[in-house]
Amino acid sequence: MLTKRKPVSKSSRSGSLWAEREQLVSSGSAAYTHVVIERAENASVWDADGKRYIDFAGGIGALNVGHCHPRVVSALREQAGKLLHTSFHVAAYENYIRLCGKLVELMPGPGRKKAILFNSGSEAIENAIKFSRAHTRRKGVISFDNAFHGRTLVCLTLDGKYKPLRQHFGPSPAEFYRARYPYPYRPPSGIKPEDLTEYCLEELDRLFRNDVAPEDVAAIIAEPVQGEGGFIVPTPGFLKGLRKLCDQHGMMLVIDEVQTGFGRTGRMFAIEHDEVVPDLMVVGKSLGAGMPLSGVIGRAEILDSAPVGSIGGTYGGNPMSCAAALAVLEIFKDERLVDAGRRIGRVVAQRFDSWRDRSPLVGDSRGLGAMRAIELVSDKRSKAPLPPARVKEIISRCEEGGLIVIKAGGFDNVIRTLMPLTIPDSELERGLDVLESALKS
Ligand SMILES: Cc1ncc(COP(=O)(O)O)c(C=O)c1O
Repeated sequence: MLTKRKPVSKSSRSGSLWAEREQLVSSGSAAYTHVVIERAENASVWDADGKRYIDFAGGIGALNVGHCHPRVVSALREQAGKLLHTSFHVAAYENYIRLCGKLVELMPGPGRKKAILFNSGSEAIENAIKFSRAHTRRKGVISFDNAFHGRTLVCLTLDGKYKPLRQHFGPSPAEFYRARYPYPYRPPSGIKPEDLTEYCLEELDRLFRNDVAPEDVAAIIAEPVQGEGGFIVPTPGFLKGLRKLCDQHGMMLVIDEVQTGFGRTGRMFAIEHDEVVPDLMVVGKSLGAGMPLSGVIGRAEILDSAPVGSIGGTYGGNPMSCAAALAVLEIFKDERLVDAGRRIGRVVAQRFDSWRDRSPLVGDSRGLGAMRAIELVSDKRSKAPLPPARVKEIISRCEEGGLIVIKAGGFDNVIRTLMPLTIPDSELERGLDVLESALKS
């Protein structure tokens, strides 16, 4: 995935740091852009040579409150002077407990709930699988085509993209199955987008007959809008259908809100759009405003099903990360960021829809709230994906024009927006202008 940088002047600080990166850092680490960042504020970042960029990537959706929000920085400064680490297993501390209280309140659905904190989205997903298996005493886990749940061995087994995520890393653990997720822009041939919900739910029935009986399935895990898979919004009724199947067969419905969570789609959590109540919900990214933090929230009896000492880790729910997250949740309330997700979404959708109507390159414009994307094609009728090299070219043009934006999708041909929800209107418009001229050029 590491793309070769255009020759850069070694005399620039960014250029010489990039050359060092190539020398020193594993080439397995993706390079979506060639920017070397020195500092950041809200929706802007400055590179090592002082060039300013508008940031439409937001740390891959981890910065819904913006870079270095003053209230996050101040909470971290205060926390740093008090307590950096004990490990929650050794000695509990208040901000971990307070944060779990807030997450439990935020999770949709009735009944008594509990939460537990980890460091990364992948780690939380792994633990959601452990809880599901411990609670149901079953082993099977079903995920979907185009899904992305992380890069650890279990997570990449869940992922619905072979290259580059799974190739060379097998054998995969057993008892994992993959089903079809409704992708309205690319339905299977002969199937109309409006029939996809029914089609995909029937595919699950087929899976239950051919591959694994539902009574042996611990969990179905789904993103309410697929993120890395290309910002695919499932067809109406699909998530409700999964809920119904899980109820029918005693399977856990695990909803991965790592990328969709915290206002990105215009609701606190994307699953709220469908009024579906998950058994377990996984959160990460924007909860910590850049600090490593993730969590699993769910019905108390599920979170209490694993034996004492079987879940956790040295750093999960570190005091610094919890301090940042408590500030994040206050900022969400005071700055009405869930509303901002809807407002930004409307502005971006209007521009993206108009490009889809006018530009030969833009095959689809889609999304929910501020989680919006365009899918690029070289031919609108056949929907042939625009080759990755040309997508990279567009992203490089954006970079030259002062905009950081990243791709997604099974064909690497989707450009997605994950800008902070605190972005000023003028920067939002300017960023969209840069993207528009990169597409035109
Ligand atoms: C939906 C989803 N789940 C899980 C993950 C994994 O999170 P992390 O990279 O923090 O391990 C990601 C990361 O992009 C994600 O988008």
